[in-house]
Amino acid sequence: MKHFLDICDFDAETLKSIIADGNKSLKGEYICGVAKSLKDKTLIMIFEKASTRTRVSFEVGMLQLGGNAVVLSAGDTQLGRGETIEDTAKVLSRYGDAIMIRTNGHNKLLALAENSSVPVINGLTDYSHPCQIMADILCYEHHRGSIEGKVITWCGDGNNVAISWIHAAAKFGFEMRLACPKELLPDQKTIDTARAEGAKIIIEQDIVKMVEGSDCVVTDTWVSMGDEASNRLEILKPYQVTAKLMGKAKSDAVFMHCLPAHRGEEMTSEVIDGLQSIVFDEAECRLHVQKAILNWCLS
Ligand code: CP
Ligand code: NVA
Repeated sequence: MKHFLDICDFDAETLKSIIADGNKSLKGEYICGVAKSLKDKTLIMIFEKASTRTRVSFEVGMLQLGGNAVVLSAGDTQLGRGETIEDTAKVLSRYGDAIMIRTNGHNKLLALAENSSVPVINGLTDYSHPCQIMADILCYEHHRGSIEGKVITWCGDGNNVAISWIHAAAKFGFEMRLACPKELLPDQKTIDTARAEGAKIIIEQDIVKMVEGSDCVVTDTWVSMGDEASNRLEILKPYQVTAKLMGKAKSDAVFMHCLPAHRGEEMTSEVIDGLQSIVFDEAECRLHVQKAILNWCLS
């Protein structure tokens, strides 16, 4: 079964071929040379959390490939009244050709995949966000060429998006620097596994030192969906990406953010709305890379 659950599940060659297909869509070419490669296929999407980009890019992607999408808000389904994810997987597999889920629990994604007879795609969990980082790599490479050997610096909360960057570091061969407070570091097991696979991962709290010489500075919201704000804003204050901090990176460094953004928190307006920011191209790349992911899952 061709599930797309996490970047760490794949070999580098497969991931790079998906990015190459996404690049075809970005350039206005057909993926695999076929205009409507997913003609009459249906993607069912389950959302337990809010979404703008993921929902719209998957839906538009399916339409562009000749298929269609059904969007379910988990609260409006029987899942919200206690039907199990296992039973839901078995039922939805009879109706759709693939299922995408955005969920609070990574274990729910895994249970869905285990019980589904059609491909399952991770549209974000509390643990990871692989479609986002596939889009980020497509976008970075579109602007700056191969990401291999480059220095990518994550600033702030060691959250689900950071985890997928760590997974990608092991596959794409870039140096991953994590400037995260000690209280909010990404999962240690994920870091150990990536390192064992050869990833170069550097963790330090000195954000200026970490950003020095970087090719890409990336951040995300300080309060992810499902997180309590509590004292996070206080802990993360020293990790804000400012124009002064961007000045420490390479002169051609780019700024990335998966969005939604909170100006004045994880970065200043000057940075996200400035010349080094490629955040809206990044959002566009979700559409292109997900078309490639859908095509891979369903071909
Ligand atoms: N970046 C991202 O996944 O955005 P949405 O939450 O709007 O889907
Ligand atoms: N880390 C964020 C990403 C949103 C796309 C969250 O989980 O809310």
